[in-house]
Amino acid sequence: MTALTGLVGWRGMVGSVLMDRMQAEGDFDHIEPMFFSTSNAGGTAPVMAKNEKKLFDAYDIDALKRCEIIVTAQGGDYTSDVFPRLRAAGWNGHWIDAASTLRMKDDAVIVLDPVNMPVIKDALAKGGRNWIGGNCTVSCMLMGVGALYKAGLVEWMNTMTYQAASGGGAAHMRELLTQYGTLNASVRHLLDDPKSAILEIDRQLAATQRGLSDAETANFGVPLGGSLIPWIDKDLGDGMSKEEWKGEAETNKILGQGAGFGTDATPVDGFCVRVGAMRCHSQALLFKLKKDVPLADIEALIAADNAWVKLVPNTKEATLRDLTPVAVTGTMTIPVGRLRKMSMGPQYLGAFTIGDQLLWGAAEPLRRMLRIVVDA
Ligand code: HSE
Repeated sequence: MTALTGLVGWRGMVGSVLMDRMQAEGDFDHIEPMFFSTSNAGGTAPVMAKNEKKLFDAYDIDALKRCEIIVTAQGGDYTSDVFPRLRAAGWNGHWIDAASTLRMKDDAVIVLDPVNMPVIKDALAKGGRNWIGGNCTVSCMLMGVGALYKAGLVEWMNTMTYQAASGGGAAHMRELLTQYGTLNASVRHLLDDPKSAILEIDRQLAATQRGLSDAETANFGVPLGGSLIPWIDKDLGDGMSKEEWKGEAETNKILGQGAGFGTDATPVDGFCVRVGAMRCHSQALLFKLKKDVPLADIEALIAADNAWVKLVPNTKEATLRDLTPVAVTGTMTIPVGRLRKMSMGPQYLGAFTIGDQLLWGAAEPLRRMLRIVVDA
């Protein structure tokens, strides 16, 4: 019998990517879906529905309790509200969640099976029931360079990110594009005139950027089009942004090391920056390795780690072709390039990696965890 699987938040941006991937991989052949809605209970479920053709109320604990598995991309507020009530009502099913709410709880595993299958298997064997998708930046980074961690080579890692608008949500992507349009329109007449002065265009553009209204910057708070924002998520009050804090906390938890596992954590730190890309998060990485390993060996380790990582030769031609957000967007490929030993010494390794934050950064680890649970 196929597992009755509740799907919540399947219509949003992450949820829609998740549904696409589940259909592409034939996941619906392995489950009996039960579609939930926060706004349209009683409506018609999408075509993937089999026996349960109506939408159920996503706040109906009794309906949720029927499910063996619940997959949610509804968001943190929903998780905070429903998850404790569902568990308190005695539900013992598998909860697979894209939101960050439960990530750092002791009884939750951050799922990224190409990187941490042993951690997942161990938790499953011990009766684990809470499976949470990781921060997109961390998941994409580990899909690219997880091999170095698995090989025990990393003494510390510095990461400088270039994060796309989609990390904020759908409204953020729209805002960025609207800003680009406004900016272009404000200097269009000058751009169309090949004899116009570039510094005049620049001056007018800066005036337009600084003059964007509150409504035009409602999501990011300041202009992002033609600019960048070196702060993502909350201010933790100690000089660190929450996104930066997640880098070390989640990397170690995914790998099953550090606090909670009785082992040392690997230091991971750096700055997280929002840039005007659409849905691919990029990161410049600097590793201090525990020993001097030849670059060719490092390249071989990374290339062999999983089916999605793609080693990009450290040449200008290959970098421009394969190592940009535009090249990666909408694909499962995780390119890793710019690999070279840095001038600080042979144990210092530089790298650059990119991932689609809606795929490996959000939807994919969830659907893969669903299959792991179904096949267990
Ligand atoms: N916090 C990430 C970002 C998104 O803002 O880019 C998902 O983890």
